Amino acid sequence: MGNLQIRMDELIRAVTIALDIVEHGLLGASANHGKRIGVLCAEMGRQFGMDDYAITSLVSSALLHDSALTEYILSERDRNDPAMRLHCEYGERNAQAMLPGRDIAGFVLYHHERADGCGPFGKKSGEYPLEAELIAIADMLDVSCHLQTIAPGDLPALRRRVADGAGEAYTKRATEAMLCALDASMLEKLRDENIGETVERTIPTWTAEIDDKCVFGLGGMTARIIDYKSEFTRRHSTQIANKAWLMGERCGYDAKHKTRLYLSAALHDLGKLAVPSEILEKPGKLTNEEFEIIKAHAGLTHDLLKDISGFDEVCAIASSHHEKLNGSGYPFRKDVEELSFDERLLACLDIYQAVSEARPYHPGRNHAETMPILNSMAENELIDGGIVADLDVVMEEYSGGDVPPPPGAVA
Ligand SMILES: [Fe+2]
Ligand SMILES: [Fe+2]
Ligand SMILES: [Fe+2]
Ligand SMILES: [Fe+2]
Repeated sequence: MGNLQIRMDELIRAVTIALDIVEHGLLGASANHGKRIGVLCAEMGRQFGMDDYAITSLVSSALLHDSALTEYILSERDRNDPAMRLHCEYGERNAQAMLPGRDIAGFVLYHHERADGCGPFGKKSGEYPLEAELIAIADMLDVSCHLQTIAPGDLPALRRRVADGAGEAYTKRATEAMLCALDASMLEKLRDENIGETVERTIPTWTAEIDDKCVFGLGGMTARIIDYKSEFTRRHSTQIANKAWLMGERCGYDAKHKTRLYLSAALHDLGKLAVPSEILEKPGKLTNEEFEIIKAHAGLTHDLLKDISGFDEVCAIASSHHEKLNGSGYPFRKDVEELSFDERLLACLDIYQAVSEARPYHPGRNHAETMPILNSMAENELIDGGIVADLDVVMEEYSGGDVPPPPGAVA
C-alpha cells in the first residue's frame, strides 16, 4: 500500500485558486467565484447545525463545484449540451474522486437545479440534497448579482431579490439561510480580494490518509482538469502520470514512492491553468512576452503546492520539470547538483510527452521520432542521459502511444 497523509483542506484550496483563475480566464467570470460560494455555504451550513465534518464536505464540494469547467467546455464543443448536464456530471465525478471517503453524493451533480424543477435534471425542491440547494443558491446569486461588487447600500435590494426567488429558483429553506447569511459583514468578506484567507479560516483542518486508489482518483482528476485547458494537451498530465508510475516500477520504487511520483506528475502543470488558452493554442511563434507568460506556470505550480503540509517533495518534483542540468531551465535555474533523480525523471517525461503529442506547431511523433530529440538534449547535457536511455527501453513497447493507467486507477 502506498498510503500518503495529505492535508486535504490545503490541497483543495490550492486547486480552487487554480480553478478560479481558469474560470475567470475562460468565461470572463468574476475572479474568486468558487471561494465566494464556499464562504456563503459555510455560513448557511452552520445555520442548519452542521458540524465540522459536514461543513468540510459542503465547503469542499462548493469550492470544487465548477471543477469540470475545462473538460466541459471542450466536450460541449463535441456533444452540444445546452442543459449543462455534462458539466454537472463531470463535476460530480471530479468531486467524488477529489474528496475521498466523503459521502457527498449529489452535492455537485445538482448544483444547477431549481426549486421549481426547471434545472438540468428536473428535480424539484426536496428531491435533491440540502448541500446542493445551498451551493445552487450561492452560485445563482453570485453569477447574476456579482456579489463581489455589492456595496453596503445595495444590501436591501439584494435581499429583496433573494426573497423573490423563494420557491422558484431557490428552495425556501435555502432562501431563509441565505437571508440570514447576507449581512454587511458577509458582503465585506465577499468583496475582499483576499477572500482566500477567509476560506482558509472556514474549512476545518482535514488530514486524510489516502491509499493508492485515492491518489489515482485525486491525481487523475486534477490532471484531467489541467489537461482539458487546451485541445492540444488533453492527455498530457494524465499520460505523464501513467508513465511516471511505469518508470517508478522500473526503478524498483516502493508503493509509497511510486504514488508520490505519480501525484507529482499529475500536478506538474497545475500552474498552466493560469496561462490564457490563446497563448497555449497559438499556432505561430510565440512572442517573448507570451513565452514569459507560459514559463511562469512552473513557478505558479510551486506557489500553489508549497504551503501544503507534507508536500515538500511533491512540490519540488512537480515544479522542477522545466529545469535543465546546466542550470538554463526555469523557474529556479537549478543545476545537476541541485536536481534530485525524480526531478530529472519528470523533466525527461515532460519533454518525451510534449514532443510525442501533437501541438499547434508540430504533429504527433511516434517513439522512434521522439527519441532522437531527447538523445540530442542528453548529449547537450540538458537532461539526464541515463534516464533517457531507460525511457527508450520502457516506452518503446508503446511506440509513442498511450500508456495505460496504473492498476486500480480509472482510465
Ligand atoms: Fe456550474
Ligand atoms: Fe459556478
Ligand atoms: Fe510545464
Ligand atoms: Fe508538462
